[in-house]
Amino acid sequence: MGLTVGLLYNLGKDELPGDDEPPDIHAEFDREETIHAVADALRQAGHQVIHIEADELAWPLLRETRPDIVFNLAEGRHGPSREAQFPALLDLMGIPYTGSGVLTLALSLDKAMAKRLFQAEGVPTPAFEVVPPGAIPRVDHLSYPLFVKPAHEGSSMGIGPSSVVRDELALAPAIANIHRWYRQPALVEEFLEGREFTVGILGNRDPYFFPIIEVNFDPCPAEHGRVYSYHFKQHWDDWKYYRCPAPVTDAEAALLRATALRASRALGCLDVTRVDLRLDSEGTPNVLEVNPLPGMCPGFSDLPRMAEVAGMTYSELVIRILESARERYGLVQTQVERQTA
Ligand SMILES: Nc1ncnc2c1ncn2[C@@H]1O[C@H](COP(=O)(O)OP(=O)(O)OP(=O)(O)O)[C@@H](O)[C@H]1O
Ligand SMILES: [Mg+2]
Repeated sequence: MGLTVGLLYNLGKDELPGDDEPPDIHAEFDREETIHAVADALRQAGHQVIHIEADELAWPLLRETRPDIVFNLAEGRHGPSREAQFPALLDLMGIPYTGSGVLTLALSLDKAMAKRLFQAEGVPTPAFEVVPPGAIPRVDHLSYPLFVKPAHEGSSMGIGPSSVVRDELALAPAIANIHRWYRQPALVEEFLEGREFTVGILGNRDPYFFPIIEVNFDPCPAEHGRVYSYHFKQHWDDWKYYRCPAPVTDAEAALLRATALRASRALGCLDVTRVDLRLDSEGTPNVLEVNPLPGMCPGFSDLPRMAEVAGMTYSELVIRILESARERYGLVQTQVERQTA
């Protein structure tokens, strides 16, 4: 029997950024087409779907409707742990949800915290320093070129060619730019010049790996540099910018997958995750970050793209994420079944 599924999301608003906001301020939020595609997939599989915008009104709606499970797409609108807010509420209410839990979502959005855990678990990640607003950058232990990015954003917000900093002179403006526009600490990392990959993982005990994507920088204009920037993600969605399955040897693929899995497990990710990696000068995969709420825009985001290459339809992808969560919770009884028992 079908479930009642709460589809929880933050819909992107069409409004323009304010004078004091960066142009990519709304980048994290879902497009209508994503929400419709997920809802259609759930309905086709026989489930009933309740649309829930993850805002202050969501709590009464959740209380009233008490879905059997929530399909969580919600990025959260405010605060450094914004992705963890609704999972915390759902835990409080005893409502199961797809994907990672509170701690994982809060940790992964704080890239420096996540990197400390990678280091503790022996997962390679670029050397780094966190520079909060007003602090003097202490980066003597790092070797140029460096890479400067917001400490807790996604969708490559604040990331472009000028994120690559080749000398001390360029460092202060790059950091000031993050403080000024994103109002949060800057994460300064050593820049890894090597190839870039993203690895998708589905399921928990016996995880399934999607075909690996390599980001292909070759067709990008030289001045753009080899950065998977906000501009890249918005404009260069043609397949020529991606290689999937990535042209790597079996041993290289195995190492990429193993490194990604270790990073995802270090943070306690559940059901679905996408791990971004880059090779260092020795060819060792380093983890840049883990995405426990990977973009789900059909035909556009990395995860649905790799699923497509695997021969998995978008609907199958959605249902496999749901089934993974359902199995984890042992959720075999539906709301209706519970009420009539
Ligand atoms: N230390 C680094 N060395 C080289 N390139 C880097 C480094 N850190 C980030 N980048 C580049 O910037 C891109 C975005 O960085 P990152 O994945 O940390 O940001 P994000 O906004 O969280 O991305 P997502 O859209 O996956 O959530 C990477 O895909 C990579 O191309
Ligand atoms: Mg990334």
